[in-house]
Amino acid sequence: MAPSMLAIRETFASLVADGVPHNPRHESSQAADDSPLTAHHSQLANTAVSCKGVTKEFGANGTKTLALRGVDVDVSDGQLTLLVGPSGCGKTTLISIVAGLLNPTEGSVEVLGADLAKLSGRGLVEFRAKNIGFVFQQYNLLPALSAAENAAVPLIINGWPRKKAFAKARAMLATVGLSHRADNFPSQLSGGEQQRVAIARALINEPRLLVCDEPTSALDAKSGHTVMELIKQVAVQPGRAVIVVTHDSRVFEFGDRIVEMSDGRISSDQANVAA
Ligand SMILES: Nc1ncnc2c1ncn2[C@@H]1O[C@H](COP(=O)(O)OP(=O)(O)O)[C@@H](O)[C@H]1O
Ligand SMILES: [Mg+2]
Repeated sequence: MAPSMLAIRETFASLVADGVPHNPRHESSQAADDSPLTAHHSQLANTAVSCKGVTKEFGANGTKTLALRGVDVDVSDGQLTLLVGPSGCGKTTLISIVAGLLNPTEGSVEVLGADLAKLSGRGLVEFRAKNIGFVFQQYNLLPALSAAENAAVPLIINGWPRKKAFAKARAMLATVGLSHRADNFPSQLSGGEQQRVAIARALINEPRLLVCDEPTSALDAKSGHTVMELIKQVAVQPGRAVIVVTHDSRVFEFGDRIVEMSDGRISSDQANVAA
């Protein structure tokens, strides 16, 4: 029996924080602030994410953890930014804050020209749904839905007619090389294939920011390589910023830029000449 739309909606909302009407991309939230002096539509890279003095403290007295100790970092569109560093250094915390899933304790975060602290709860949900795609380590596909249905979920939630949504989902699956798997369920797919479905789902709304948290760490070397190639070829586009968090040195070659974290701080930040 097909799960009810409500169940899908609730599960999906908890996974990727979605759930609002589709908006065409040209209705940019920053359009009103554009000054004639800014180069928004040029070939030049734009700042998509800007963090200033971001700190994050978890826990109450006695068990306090300072996960972020003052992070200043900008991320440009049109390239793949790798955020690397050992387990526990604050990578997931930082991208959760950038994605509006977690509030910073101090500091400011601008994403695509919007100050996240100024967005209301509903406004933030809408902003995320329109602008941000997520890929997680464990894929987070809905087990009762086929690959095409999983990829279509963001569109269906956003009110697209089912037929149109499934057609676009199939086209996205073709882009990630999975046309032949469209009607399979997650349990019938390999880890690498599931992650490719998750990438199709994350990109189906054409988000201007794609955030991937350890997308290869549950995969063998070959599947991990395929997934990173796909992210590089399909996701990295002019006008879209892609942040990939990893502690897997095998994926370093895919970064245009490597930002390294250590103990809640940025410890190095370099263009990757090998990319
Ligand atoms: N919800 C939480 N409550 C308490 N501590 C947390 C929470 N989330 C993360 N931390 C702590 O913050 C630090 C950074 O964690 P995290 O951002 O997950 O690191 P990474 O993704 O680099 O492995 C760690 O010490 C972790 O234990
Ligand atoms: Mg993490």
